[in-house]
Amino acid sequence: MMEGFVLHGDFLDTTAQRRVRWRKNAWAVCEDGRCAGVFDALPERWRGLPVHDCAGSVILPGLTDLHVHAPQYEFAGLGFDHQLLDWLEALAFPTEARYADADYARAHYGRFAADLRQGATTRVCAFATLHGAGAAVLMEALEQAGLAGGVGKVNMDRLSPDILREESTAVSLADTEAWILATRENFPHIRPVITPRFVPSCSPELLAGLGALAEKYGLPVQSHLDENQDEIALVAQLHPDCESYARVYDKYGLLPAECIMAHCVYLDAAERRLLRERGVFVAHCPGSNANIRSGIAPVTEYLDEGLSVGLGSDVAGGYTLDMFTAMRDALSASRLLWRLRGGTGRWLRSEEALFLATRGGGAFFGQVGAFEPGWEFDAVVVDESRWPARPQNTDAQRFERLLYQAGDRDVTAKYVAGRRLF
Ligand code: GUN
Ligand code: FE
Repeated sequence: MMEGFVLHGDFLDTTAQRRVRWRKNAWAVCEDGRCAGVFDALPERWRGLPVHDCAGSVILPGLTDLHVHAPQYEFAGLGFDHQLLDWLEALAFPTEARYADADYARAHYGRFAADLRQGATTRVCAFATLHGAGAAVLMEALEQAGLAGGVGKVNMDRLSPDILREESTAVSLADTEAWILATRENFPHIRPVITPRFVPSCSPELLAGLGALAEKYGLPVQSHLDENQDEIALVAQLHPDCESYARVYDKYGLLPAECIMAHCVYLDAAERRLLRERGVFVAHCPGSNANIRSGIAPVTEYLDEGLSVGLGSDVAGGYTLDMFTAMRDALSASRLLWRLRGGTGRWLRSEEALFLATRGGGAFFGQVGAFEPGWEFDAVVVDESRWPARPQNTDAQRFERLLYQAGDRDVTAKYVAGRRLF
C-alpha cells in the first residue's frame, strides 16, 4: 500500500551543478519514503494526502555527516592544543577504552543519538570503538533515534595502547566478522561499515583481512587518509613499498566502490587520480583540521577535478555535531587558503557549502541530498524567526543568512527517508 504525505513550504536545495535552487510556496509529495516531485500547485492525484503545512518556512534536504566518532562526543572541545597523534594518545584512546563496558556505551551512545536526532543531520557515517558489542549498541541507538547511515566497529591491532589494542590480528578479524553477522540484518537503516582506524594502527595482515571482509559481505569501508604530516611520515615509514598513503589502502582492497576517506588534507596528484578512479568519497572535515592544526584541504580543487566530496564533523576533532557549523568552517578555511596562496585560484562558493552538506555527501547513501523525483525523502524545516530580522531579503540573501545564522537548534521538524521524527 502506498503511504504518502505532502510537505508545503519554501524548499531550498542544490543542483548537480552545485547551484542553490529555491522552490518557494511549493508542495513536495512523499510516497513510500521517496520524493514524487516538488510542485508549484499540488497535482489533483495527491490532493487526498495529509498535508504538513510549513508555509513561509525554509525546508532543506537533511544534512549529511560523513565522518564522526560517536565515543568521542563526550569530550568534544577538549585537547585542541595537541596535534593529531598526541591528541589520540591523550584523549581519544583513553576515552574509547571505556566502551568495553556495554552499559557505559549505552548511556553515552544514547546521548549522542538523541542529540543527532534533534538536529539537522539525517544521514551519518560513524566510527564506534574496537568493541563489537559497543558498536552494535551504537547501531541500535541510531536506528531507534530514526537516523540512517552506517557504523563501524574500529580495528586496531598495533601501535595502540594496551587498553585499546586488539589481542591479535586473528581476534580482530574474528570479532569483526561476528559483529557483521550479528548486526547486518538487524537494523533496516544502519549498515555495518568496515573500519580500519587508519593505516598506522593496523598490521598489513589486518588490512588484507578487512579488505577480504568488505568484499565477502559487500560492505562499505571508512577510514582516515592524509590528515596530518606526522601521520603521513609514519605511514611512509611503515609501508616503504607503497608510493603513497592511499596506495596502502588500495593494495589491501580497502578502496571499494562504497568508501569514505576522511580528511584528505594532503592528497598528491596520483592519490587524487586513484580516489577518483575508485569513486571514493572524501569527507572534508575543516573544523577538525583547524582545531588540531592538521591543515587546510584544497576542497575546490577536489571538486573541480571531479572527486566526490561531502562534509564531516569529525567529532571530537570537531567540537560540534552541527553541520551548519561544518559548512561555515568549510567556507572560512577555503577563503583563508585562497589568501595564503597569494590570492590565486578560487575559493569555495557559499552555494557549494550547502551542496557539500547535502547532495555531495548524500550521494554516498544513494539518491539522497536533494528534492528530486525518486530520491529518498529527507527534509528538515528550519525556523528563521529567532535571527535578527531583515525582511526585505532577496532569495540569495535569505540563503546566505541561513548559512551564517542557522544551527541544529533551529530545526522544528525532520524527516528521514519519509519518516517524520518530530
Ligand atoms: N586518525 C586515527 N584516529 C583518528 C581519530 O580518532 N580522529 C581523527 N581526527 N583522526 C584519526
Ligand atoms: Fe576522524
